[in-house]
Amino acid sequence: MNTQSTIYIAGHQGLVGSAILQELLAAGHAPETILTRTHAELDLTNQAAVQAFFAAEKPAQVYLAAAKAGGIHANSTYPADLIYQNLMIQGNLMEAAYQNGVQKLMFFAPSADTLPLDALALSDDSYAFAKTAGIKLCEEYASRDDADYRYILLPVLSGHGVQQHDGSHVDGIAAASINVMNLPKASYSQRKPHVLN
Ligand SMILES: NC(=O)c1ccc[n+]([C@@H]2O[C@H](COP(=O)([O-])OP(=O)(O)OC[C@H]3O[C@@H](n4cnc5c(N)ncnc54)[C@H](OP(=O)(O)O)[C@@H]3O)[C@@H](O)[C@H]2O)c1
Repeated sequence: MNTQSTIYIAGHQGLVGSAILQELLAAGHAPETILTRTHAELDLTNQAAVQAFFAAEKPAQVYLAAAKAGGIHANSTYPADLIYQNLMIQGNLMEAAYQNGVQKLMFFAPSADTLPLDALALSDDSYAFAKTAGIKLCEEYASRDDADYRYILLPVLSGHGVQQHDGSHVDGIAAASINVMNLPKASYSQRKPHVLN
């Protein structure tokens, strides 16, 4: 792993993002090589702000762990917000990263256990719809020769104050995600999709 490249973790205060941050520090990345912004500092639904951030900071890699969290309550009480915010976060980040020469980007989505992929289920689940669109967007950028965009499908997670029955611990998942990010491109593509559990 190149511990000198500048890495932006979007959503570094969330469950997955905070674990990625700790794993990168433990792996020898100097704190000054890791870029973070809180939601208050950079609203990722704001396209102009995201573009300006990438143009100024030019990170080499991005972990896209920011999301508007879904669930039964969120899907039933604010479905439009859920799909709008996730589509904007994903779209703004992937496009700004592409325009600013980011070498690698990692996107996170729920695995099939938690992400209903059939059309009927999708129509009832704004979160699943948005995350599925994110996977497709990631794959389409990755089909360009100059964009090494990757995604990982995650199980239900526990850790750092979030204790889910049977959830996989987020620290192990974060370490595995960093390993997938650092695979040679051919190995990543051969073994895709990477489903962690
Ligand atoms: N947790 C799980 O069990 C699980 C399972 C499968 C997949 N995943 C995937 O992993 C990813 C991360 O999930 P997570 O559980 O770590 O989520 P999380 O704990 O809710 O963290 C999400 C982070 O994104 C930030 N954020 C949300 N909207 C933002 C915006 N408009 N601008 C800037 N920052 C924003 C949040 O900041 P604020 O809180 O300040 O808004 C928070 O720090 C998601 O893509 C999710 O689909 C998670």
